[in-house]
Amino acid sequence: MAVTIKSNREIELMRESCRLLANIFEELGNSVKPGISTLSIDRLGEKLIRSCGCVPNFLHYEGYPASICVSVNDEVVHGIPRANRILHEGDIVSLDAGLIYKGYHSDMARTFGVGKISDDARKLIEETRNSFFEGVSKAKQGNHLYDISNTIDDYISQFGYGIVEDLTGHGIGTSLHEDPQIPNFRQKRRGLKLQAGMTLAIEPMINMGRADVEWLEDDWTVVTEDGSLSAHYENTVLITDGEPEILTLL
Ligand code: MF3
Ligand code: CO
Repeated sequence: MAVTIKSNREIELMRESCRLLANIFEELGNSVKPGISTLSIDRLGEKLIRSCGCVPNFLHYEGYPASICVSVNDEVVHGIPRANRILHEGDIVSLDAGLIYKGYHSDMARTFGVGKISDDARKLIEETRNSFFEGVSKAKQGNHLYDISNTIDDYISQFGYGIVEDLTGHGIGTSLHEDPQIPNFRQKRRGLKLQAGMTLAIEPMINMGRADVEWLEDDWTVVTEDGSLSAHYENTVLITDGEPEILTLL
């Protein structure tokens, strides 16, 4: 599939889809507390998405059974919410969610600390977020796609963290996943030339230990092979001829 360039009308719809999602995330983040189950977070997320007249895009996507991905500690992404999975003080939890507004998809993720967390965990979360902002600074017309990838890799390398290679960011629009794939690690080629009107979900997934991941028996949950903590930070971004517009930031 070719990379799509959004019209002004489509950009307006993407903006609104992302604004609604960012608002929902505020509330979802506030629900993260010791004692809450990962299923309660999913229930709240689905309710908030539907209450603004939107549809959760993750629900039933390739058979995914929930609206929100809730990934705890060594779970990298795609953790399936469960009633018996209770968050405890000191855990870190990545929430990943998206919605469809008038046919247009948004997608974002954040990692939260549950109560008081270790300094090492706090640093992992912060540097994962920082790596997104380093990468997105290259997301403008005329640059190449892998300028983003290489910049994220260069930034993360200094900490000795593992960058997940088995999953990538992606184009987004009338589908949750459009071309191109956006790796978070160094590429040999430059990749396609970025053009105003592209909308991209940029999403570094960073492990405190090694980069290797594996899939659990549920066929969804991705975990670090070495059991180390993992963090995720994702926004939907509009490429312009100037600074990128980060659509899922309020
Ligand atoms: N945010 C995730 C991604 O980028 C989507 C989750 S997969 C799903 O691609 F099945 F849960 F939808
Ligand atoms: Co995504």
